Amino acid sequence: MRPTPAHAAAGPISDGASVPVLVIGTGYGGSVAALRLAQAGVNVHMVEMGMAWDTPGSDGKIFCNTTNPDYRSYWLRTKTKQPLSNFLGFPIDRNIPKYTGILDAEEFGGITVYQGRGVGGGSLVNGGMAVTPRRENFGAILPSVNADEMYNTYYPRANSGLGVSVIDPNWFETTSYYQYARVGRKHAQRSNFPFVFVPDVYDWNYMRAEDNGTVPKSALAGEILYGNNAGKKSLQQTYLAQIRATGRVTISPLHRVTSVSPASGGYAVVIEQLDTSGNVTATKTVQAGKVFFAAGSVGTGKLLTKLKATGALPGLNAEIGKGWGDNGNVMCGRANHLWDPTGSVQSSIPCCGIDNWNAGGAFAEVAPLPTGIETFASFYLSITKNPNRAQFTYNGSTGKVDLNWQTAWKQPSITMAKSIFDKINSKEGTIYRTDLFGTNKIWGDHLTYHPLGGAVLNKATDNYGRLHGYNGLYVIDGALIPGNTSVNPFVTITALAERNIEKIIATDV
Ligand code: FDA
Repeated sequence: MRPTPAHAAAGPISDGASVPVLVIGTGYGGSVAALRLAQAGVNVHMVEMGMAWDTPGSDGKIFCNTTNPDYRSYWLRTKTKQPLSNFLGFPIDRNIPKYTGILDAEEFGGITVYQGRGVGGGSLVNGGMAVTPRRENFGAILPSVNADEMYNTYYPRANSGLGVSVIDPNWFETTSYYQYARVGRKHAQRSNFPFVFVPDVYDWNYMRAEDNGTVPKSALAGEILYGNNAGKKSLQQTYLAQIRATGRVTISPLHRVTSVSPASGGYAVVIEQLDTSGNVTATKTVQAGKVFFAAGSVGTGKLLTKLKATGALPGLNAEIGKGWGDNGNVMCGRANHLWDPTGSVQSSIPCCGIDNWNAGGAFAEVAPLPTGIETFASFYLSITKNPNRAQFTYNGSTGKVDLNWQTAWKQPSITMAKSIFDKINSKEGTIYRTDLFGTNKIWGDHLTYHPLGGAVLNKATDNYGRLHGYNGLYVIDGALIPGNTSVNPFVTITALAERNIEKIIATDV
């Protein structure tokens, strides 16, 4: 493929258009692919089913607050589906207008998978915890990948591209907004668990200015799950800003890819245009020389499973849809004593964790519970070494793709998380909260924030994400990673995408 003149056409893609490269999805994998291809002189079109998230609502803000979810909060739901569904046992979900909102709580038989929807993918809604796995754990995460290359070149490149940094430890010790984290540290250390600071993409200087009252509050006002109006370096501020500067990439928001099949000169891609109620307003077919699947683990896993089963891409191999895991996610809360308040004000950006991975199979982030009142609760999202893996399958009678994850498969995660919290509770004389996920329910074992796998590297694809069976089709997102990263996943997704696209540009473009 020869470099083409740069162009930055405005507006969504038109029916019958022809593009050298089409990228499905605008999250981490898709943004890395589009940026590096554009820098290599290739024009790229990115297709994103969610909204652009660049226009304020009637309140003057682009994103709504976690404590007050409105029409912008959820993807095509009429009622919120908050990860913490209850407080003091009472359900807290509320009715909302159906809208192409920012957070999708996608329900499968045994698990609800939370995902970001919009230009920027998961970076719009996530906590920004930007964690590079410990070197000694990498062999179990991506066994076919050269770890030296990753740790010398691609992890540093990803961390720099994402704008990752660590909280100033002096400010951490003094600000009231991290009292909950200091309580988490005290309890971890009194039970002899290693406590670690965790890097993030939030602008820590901005957060200090929030604390000083000199800028509008975002993390310190509880913004996170439905977007941050300032402070957080989502992909919109990093990779996507660089992408725009190349002048070679166009993006079609509210466009959803439904089919990819061979056609002369490459592939025919069928795309549905959506309105903000989720109705299909147009169906377009475009030609693409090469197609990158970057729709996220679930988006890519589902799409490829359907395309193989329905005969659009029959030459995909039998690994498609396999190797899906939840990164071992499980949540819980602990009830502290009255002399251990966690603070009525809490930064929504986590900055630390308890690392019991090698001894007990769990890495627990000390998470905020920014309710605006003192709850005396410590809250944790644990990432665990859960060995269970699920598979996507096409259901001919519904025309949908199912995932065979079972709720009971979370039991290993609970056991591993208990290796930390049973010990802390015993040492502190405290108990688990039972009011956050229902009534008398300790574990948030019904969900994941970290879907991974579905088109695993070196199985469904070659060792660089080229799909077996077809030239010019690639996977470049979390679907490549076989179910677990031992820590929060987006730095690894970004670093792997940087590695793969460098090889693909050198050999295929
Ligand atoms: P990603 O999901 O980012 O992007 C895929 C994009 O494709 C989406 O924008 C989607 O709308 C679009 N798409 C899907 N199907 C499509 C189709 N058919 N046509 C067109 N577009 C389509 N991780 C971490 O490391 N640290 C953290 O702190 C957190 N915290 C966190 C909190 C919450 C609430 C969530 C939901 C997730 C996290 N994560 C996280 C996880 C992290 O956000 C996630 O791993 C990455 O976003 C995955 O990156 P990908 O590039 O694989 O897909």
